[in-house]
Amino acid sequence: MRFGHFDDNQREYVITQPNTPLPWINYLGCEAYFGIISNTAGGYSFYRDARLRRLTRYRYNNAPFDFGGRYLYLRDNDTGEFWSPSWQPTRTRLDKYECRHGLGYTIIGSSYRKIEAQTCYFVPLGETLEIWKFQVTNRRKRPVKLSVFSSIEFCLWDAQDDAANFQRNFSTGQVEIVDEVIYHKTEYRERRNHFAWFACSGKLAGFDTQRDTFLGAYRGWDNPAAVERGKSFNSIAHGWVPHGSHHVKVNLKPGETKEIIFILGYHENPVDQKFDPPASQTINKKTVKPVIAKYLDRKNVDAAFKSLRRYWDGLLGIYQVQSPDIHANRMVNIWNACQCMATFNVSRSASFYESGIGRGLGFRDSNQDLLGFVHMVPARARERILDLSATQLESGGAFHQYQPLTKRGNNDIGGGFNDDPHWLILGVAAYLKETGDWSILDEPVPFENAPGSEQPLYEHLRRSFNYTLERLGPHGLPLIGRADWNDCLNLNCFSDTPGQSFQTTTNKDGKVAESVFIAGLFVLAGKELAAIAKKRGQSEDAERCLAEAVKMEKVICQHGWDGEWFVRAYDDFGKPVGSKVCDEGKIFIESQGMCVMAGIGLNDGKARLALESVNQRLATKHGIVLQQPAFSKYYLHLGEISSYPPGYKENAGIFCHNNPWIIIAETMIGNGNRAFDYYTRINPSARENIGGIHRCEPYVFAQMIAGKDAPTHGEAKNSWLTGAAAWTYFTITQRILGIRTEFDGLRVDPVIPARWKGFTVTRRFRGNTYVIAVKNPKRKQRGVTKLLVDGKAIAGNVLPVCPPRSGPIRVEAVLEG
Ligand code: BGC
Ligand code: NOJ
Repeated sequence: MRFGHFDDNQREYVITQPNTPLPWINYLGCEAYFGIISNTAGGYSFYRDARLRRLTRYRYNNAPFDFGGRYLYLRDNDTGEFWSPSWQPTRTRLDKYECRHGLGYTIIGSSYRKIEAQTCYFVPLGETLEIWKFQVTNRRKRPVKLSVFSSIEFCLWDAQDDAANFQRNFSTGQVEIVDEVIYHKTEYRERRNHFAWFACSGKLAGFDTQRDTFLGAYRGWDNPAAVERGKSFNSIAHGWVPHGSHHVKVNLKPGETKEIIFILGYHENPVDQKFDPPASQTINKKTVKPVIAKYLDRKNVDAAFKSLRRYWDGLLGIYQVQSPDIHANRMVNIWNACQCMATFNVSRSASFYESGIGRGLGFRDSNQDLLGFVHMVPARARERILDLSATQLESGGAFHQYQPLTKRGNNDIGGGFNDDPHWLILGVAAYLKETGDWSILDEPVPFENAPGSEQPLYEHLRRSFNYTLERLGPHGLPLIGRADWNDCLNLNCFSDTPGQSFQTTTNKDGKVAESVFIAGLFVLAGKELAAIAKKRGQSEDAERCLAEAVKMEKVICQHGWDGEWFVRAYDDFGKPVGSKVCDEGKIFIESQGMCVMAGIGLNDGKARLALESVNQRLATKHGIVLQQPAFSKYYLHLGEISSYPPGYKENAGIFCHNNPWIIIAETMIGNGNRAFDYYTRINPSARENIGGIHRCEPYVFAQMIAGKDAPTHGEAKNSWLTGAAAWTYFTITQRILGIRTEFDGLRVDPVIPARWKGFTVTRRFRGNTYVIAVKNPKRKQRGVTKLLVDGKAIAGNVLPVCPPRSGPIRVEAVLEG
């Protein structure tokens, strides 16, 4: 079952019916101002931080699921009939409906009784505002008199407070209306120097700024009083619920089109120039007026839209593939990159499944997000790395999250997730491989943001590594702390009290429970750090890291190997988790993926055996489940993982985030057929045909697909904000297609399905464009035997870095096994 189709030429997904099984959303903005927009114009906007600078209100877990947003109404003033051109909120049966989600923009078009409407929503580059370019056309044979009403509900900035503190909030709301602009200035009179504004290019027939006047008592957005009667109330919000609604009258001759531009913006004034006149309480609008004027001019709007499209052409042009598989092509060339941008920007904070008030940017998450983002805007990746490492503790440990607005570690969650520090090493390694910018390692970076504590970034990496060495358990494996990558494997939590946080409640001092996963991660990160140290000429460090990695490998082989797969952990009683001796949770995916990625067991058959066990015990047609058998009851000593009903989330759900680790592992043993098969099972585009089962957007990965123990096996949840974005991107581009960044060049090492005749990748890398044609005449899965650069054979399979030149570098790689 499908609800739309891909338009790869336009780089859009076209939704053709509004009532998708779940809201199918998109992200607006890619720098500082962000919006979430659904296929019915639902969603909300914020500046930098979804919790602390929320512009518009959104009610989560609503019914319908997707309700509240950037709504417009059209009213036929002759008949009094009104409808929503984006279907919601009136849900009038439209004659035609189409939503085009593109890169950083969404266009929703519809037709009702021969009145066509189309709204293009986007955020211009470099601005802190969003544009809704609205066009309406009369396809009737006679003239029509229409009214257009806009509607947004302002949020009182701190989204958490906004949803809780009504005894105060109902008295603080303030607005100003000047010309065609509604200014939302709640709390501007006191400590804020920012306000929101909502402008309209049409001549106003009226406006409303008090929600309940606009709607009328006991009415909802499907039937606002102002729209029904065809006339705004010109209400001014004093307290209660500030709202923005413009009313514009539009008369159209047959065939005529008119356009109205609505703009919602965020603006800051210098603290000492907040008011104009200075002694008044009136917003100083001198600094914002030029911005408003600029975008009320259609020419500038069109130019901004064009440059947004060009910007994305540039970003996507860095890696383009033409392979025999359409699903891989469109994910690599368009959508997976787009999802990587979203996860880089908002981490796991704001989606239709993440409330925007719970979490900021995760240390582990954001470092992994770099894997799929670093090639797009390396300068922003650099900044992110420095921000993340500035929240690191002197011990090498990390705040688990930080708030994007303040860039400070989040004290409520704290640290103690013992895998966290290692992801910094992998994030920095990815940055170095992409850019060759070794200067980043010398950047002075503080610990815990404390001035005076600065040390070169390189020292942060050393401390990350040492953190584990200083926290080894009884078997010599790393202590797990609060949790490792699997936030729900809480071996020191022992929570028997409802409502306690599994992540922050720690009832044991944690000197026994160990993680084989962290051990594998330590080996992987240790090898990367050794290579970095060596390149920096710090050979002593390099040797030490390697020696410790080798030592840990031995410990893993001794205590972390269960006979047919890698053990997952040891619990607080010193008993194995993820072993054949367990009744449930005998085998876990994470340690198989991570240990093989770290190179463990490649030479002695362990890797192959572990991956065979995964194939037999964990793989399903919808992807690879996290563990088996699922936990059928709550285990006090295991924590949140066993809190989920079997088949969901970490309790044997298909976690799309860690499927790529197995896929990479398969490529490492040369198994291109299986690697690509696993990739395709979770690829949303390849699942488009089963939209009725999958239910989430077919253009982005979801965090989870229900596992085989779940009654809803195959159903996806938590789309968009997931480590699956970066890891799948990294896996397909660098490990399957095999065009891999390394410190000294670009390795060409595809591991592909034997049926492929070949493929072509265009890759911009360190100032040059490589056009790489991979040929597979003997239908192999791996093994580049010939590499021609501009027609000349070179030894090995690494394209060396060379000075930028104007034309592309033509490469031919032949796989002969
Ligand atoms: C989820 C995890 C998530 C964690 C974050 C848990 O409820 O199952 O996937 O990482 O919350 O705090
Ligand atoms: C989602 C979290 O954001 C991530 O940090 C964690 O690794 C996974 N869930 C697994 O628990």
